[in-house]
Amino acid sequence: MTQYINSSDQQRRDLLARARSGDMTVSNREMLEAFAIDPHYDPYSIPLDKVDPSHPSLFLHNTHWAHFKRLREEDPVHHHADSMFGPYWSVTRYEDIRYVDTHHELFSSQRTRGGIALGGVAERDDDYALPMFIQEDPPKHDEQRMVVAPMFTPRNLAELEPLIRQRAAAILDDLPINEEFNWVRHVSVELTGQMLATLFDVPQEDRLKLIDWSDTIQNLNDPEVFETPDEGFRKLFECLAYFQHYFDARKKQPPKFDLISMLAHDDATKDMEPQELLGNVMLLIVGGNDTTRNSISGGVLALNQNPDQYDKLLQNPALIPKMVPEIIRWQSPVAHMARTATQDCELGGKQVREGDRIAMWYISGNRDEDAIERADRFIIDRDNPRQHTAFGFGIHRCVGNRLAEMQLRGVWEEILKRFQKIELTGEPVGLASNFIHGIRELPVTIRG
Ligand code: HEM
Repeated sequence: MTQYINSSDQQRRDLLARARSGDMTVSNREMLEAFAIDPHYDPYSIPLDKVDPSHPSLFLHNTHWAHFKRLREEDPVHHHADSMFGPYWSVTRYEDIRYVDTHHELFSSQRTRGGIALGGVAERDDDYALPMFIQEDPPKHDEQRMVVAPMFTPRNLAELEPLIRQRAAAILDDLPINEEFNWVRHVSVELTGQMLATLFDVPQEDRLKLIDWSDTIQNLNDPEVFETPDEGFRKLFECLAYFQHYFDARKKQPPKFDLISMLAHDDATKDMEPQELLGNVMLLIVGGNDTTRNSISGGVLALNQNPDQYDKLLQNPALIPKMVPEIIRWQSPVAHMARTATQDCELGGKQVREGDRIAMWYISGNRDEDAIERADRFIIDRDNPRQHTAFGFGIHRCVGNRLAEMQLRGVWEEILKRFQKIELTGEPVGLASNFIHGIRELPVTIRG
């Protein structure tokens, strides 16, 4: 019994072996066709060992929730042998996720062992996997993280806030009234693009380039965008040329407070090879882009789907600081992070072997009723809204978490000053990704 509709077990095994041996010519379309499923199948209708929440189609069609629910209830640390990303463990409960994330000596992030995403390029070919500190273990991870961490301190964020807010206000003032538009394109993308250009101190006119490169990383496996991941990679070399120019120039100038200058002057990063410069820049771009972008969009969607909460917000805008972490929990923009076991060990009563791949499903931990009261409800005035898995735990916990919250707070305060309601007037379109839980289109209308 299998949920795949187009291929035999043998065909899938052969294709996977080619892809995982580093054959970058295996086309994205070939993979998706061989592993095609009906995204609406009922996960309760198949044997437990076949349940596989990693399929990107489930996320595109928003049908992943029942798969996670079944796993949380029946097999919270679950082995799946036959996914399109090879065999892997799903960790779906809050406490087990926290355990994996805080035991980096048992569960490695290293690129050379497979990296932090199921099906990421690191799993296919190490030559393509860019070195970056999220895909390192200590000590290298800690040394490089410390280089950029000062950008995200509360003191620095307080200094950045007026500028970020002023830019948000300008975007909102320009929005059409009584006319449908895509909130993602007009607001979420613009806001995050501007924020990134500010953090790197590159011209604001280049913000869409940053977004385009970030999208390239996300779309490496999408057949609608790139025939093969190789094609996507060629585009990233434009990004390298762009940042190499600024990196070299800032090295020659006195240190200043932007991310490129910080990387260019610290001993831990100043001599990075071009691949590693590209990797760390991409980490900061993708880290700051998709996540915040999808939280901004996810908030508008969640409020429209829960009109009682929207009314509560309109009556009491002072709830914004509590609502922001609830939006982030609800959206869980990073659906999972992956790890590789460094040794045989026990996890949630199961025996994990050295080299096994493990996905921590943050998106599932955030619906775990044992850890979060009424986890399947969007409630903007929870008592303890920052208790969620969306930023991870341990040494890799999101370095930009306070920045993301600050930006969302600013956006919502500026929105409420201007508009009565942002109304969802069309069908949202999701993203076919098990890594970024995203929204591509959100048609809305602001009534005059
Ligand atoms: C709502 C917004 C955001 C969410 C949900 C989010 C989520 C995450 C998650 C889940 C991780 C990995 C945690 C782990 O492995 O334990 C992470 C790491 C990271 N995030 Fe974020 N993030 C957000 C915003 C940002 C922003 C605005 C930036 C910076 C511009 C950023 C930069 C990073 C970086 C550099 C890392 C790697 C940290 C490390 O390896 O030490 N993130 N983020």
